[in-house]
Amino acid sequence: MCSIIGYYGKGFAAPILVKGLKRMEYRGYDSVGVATESNNQIELKKGIGKVNEVNSKIHLDTLPGKIGIGHTRWATHGKVTDFNAHPHSSNSGKIAIVHNGIIENFEELKKQLEEEGYNFKSETDSEIIANLLQKHYEKTGDVKETILKTVSEIKGHYAFVAMFENGQLAAARFHEPLIIGIGQDDFFLSSDVLGFIEFTDDAIYLENGTFVILEKDKFQILDFDGEHAKYGITKVSKEFGDAYKGDYAHFTLKEIYEQPETILKAGEKSQEAIEKTVDYIRHSKNIYVTGSGTSYNSALIAKQILSKYAKIRVDPIIASELQFAPDSIEENSIIIAISQSGESADVLEAIKIGKQANCKIIAIVNLLTSSLAREADVVIGMNCGPEIGVAATKSFSAQLVILYKIVQKLSNNKITINFEKFAESIVETLENTTKIQMIAGKLKEISDVYILGRGINHPIAIEAALKLKELTYIHAEGIAGGELKHGPLALMDTNVFVIIFNPNDSTYADTLTSAREIKARGAKIIGVSDIESDVYDYWIKIPKINQVLYPISEIIPVQLLSYYAALEKDTDPDYPRNLAKSVTVK
Ligand code: G6P
Repeated sequence: MCSIIGYYGKGFAAPILVKGLKRMEYRGYDSVGVATESNNQIELKKGIGKVNEVNSKIHLDTLPGKIGIGHTRWATHGKVTDFNAHPHSSNSGKIAIVHNGIIENFEELKKQLEEEGYNFKSETDSEIIANLLQKHYEKTGDVKETILKTVSEIKGHYAFVAMFENGQLAAARFHEPLIIGIGQDDFFLSSDVLGFIEFTDDAIYLENGTFVILEKDKFQILDFDGEHAKYGITKVSKEFGDAYKGDYAHFTLKEIYEQPETILKAGEKSQEAIEKTVDYIRHSKNIYVTGSGTSYNSALIAKQILSKYAKIRVDPIIASELQFAPDSIEENSIIIAISQSGESADVLEAIKIGKQANCKIIAIVNLLTSSLAREADVVIGMNCGPEIGVAATKSFSAQLVILYKIVQKLSNNKITINFEKFAESIVETLENTTKIQMIAGKLKEISDVYILGRGINHPIAIEAALKLKELTYIHAEGIAGGELKHGPLALMDTNVFVIIFNPNDSTYADTLTSAREIKARGAKIIGVSDIESDVYDYWIKIPKINQVLYPISEIIPVQLLSYYAALEKDTDPDYPRNLAKSVTVK
């Protein structure tokens, strides 16, 4: 998703901005650009591709000056082109902006500005901000008034940084993240603390509906009425700055291998929050669990384990769907919002709806300084360290471990889980990947993979399909075993592969029958099970363990399979095309 960054200080801005953008690469993007100010002149460079590629071609980091702005773009309005990349300058060239979010009334504003004689070089909604700022600045000659007038006209969700030719920098936030880093001799503006973490861990999280103006050695933070706004300086965790691949070829691989540790550490520092959650759940009639992508798949697992082991009914809701059925939320209920980043716009929107219905919000989140964590009543930390690979891996395991811990307490410890022993068994899986790599080679030319599971293995089939799609671009579909005969069987032939999640639980016999039905149609079968069978063309062995833990032990081999298949297909496992780690727009 778009990342914005700004620098105002004593060092040269361009190399600092490029470094910061590089650190935020994991958020996903397709083009990059930087603009700086020196001697009352703005210079700008931008292009499509990765930060390093564009930088080595056009040398973004050699722009002069100690004030600057930068951006990585994830296209929403307009194709991936050099023109559509940010920064955008106003017609006079005296103001440049970078923007994250969506300006909903941009067409109307653009028409208006065109009638007033402004031209537009890009297809983006963002460029109107630059020209609106110019229009108001020419009238008022004052940055504060200019920002106030501009934010009163634009509608939508946004965070933008504007650089004026006289060297002033201003940034406004409305429902998109924007953080100020306070350094010794400098200020940073960024969508993510990673943009400045190596320079300072003092941060101000701008409140919604506020803006900042940076001038020599000072800053002022104001609300959209022009009044001074309250703010606090937070120490952000340096831990998230230590995101290095080490000896691993990719972050995704590293993060898959970190899972034994994840299993031991998830929720470790949030015992009290877990207790509180259990208490809330016990005293609430309605419990909803929401999330997007992988985090929503955790919500599906939550439904199964809470009903099976604690006899508690929960409703999983796809975060982006809640806005279309806000009445499905009963007043005074509980919403458990699951999100690795804590910045997914859909999840933030969902909890907003929950708050309007007077619900308590419990966040299961990795980034404790995120918007979700700050909005929630109770915060349970995943505690799994930075996850950089766009496809979620270790955060999924962390989410499930936390859900298990909640269920354990709710069941008055009727289910016992030995996480240490479990982590050891996962080490074994991770040490034996030769077969998985061999199977990944077979997927290279395959265009369709179906994944089957019953009961608790069904949401895992859905999550496995998501991993394959994200990492390999292979069409993959998770199917509930019993549904096979109601349609998907028609698709089975010698060109498809089917992954069967078939652990030794109550679903075993029925799923084995499904496997035979599929095999009879010529499809190749990858069995993920603790029991070998002749029906599988390829058997991926999982540990014989406590049934409750099958979901984690099943997904890890498929994470690896997807990773190795991505290598076979020459796709980039860390940064899949078109996807973003942190989807901050609706
Ligand atoms: C994006 C990522 C997915 C992730 C989803 C939810 O789509 O690419 O990997 O599962 O967002 O992210 P969250 O940070 O809310 O868990």
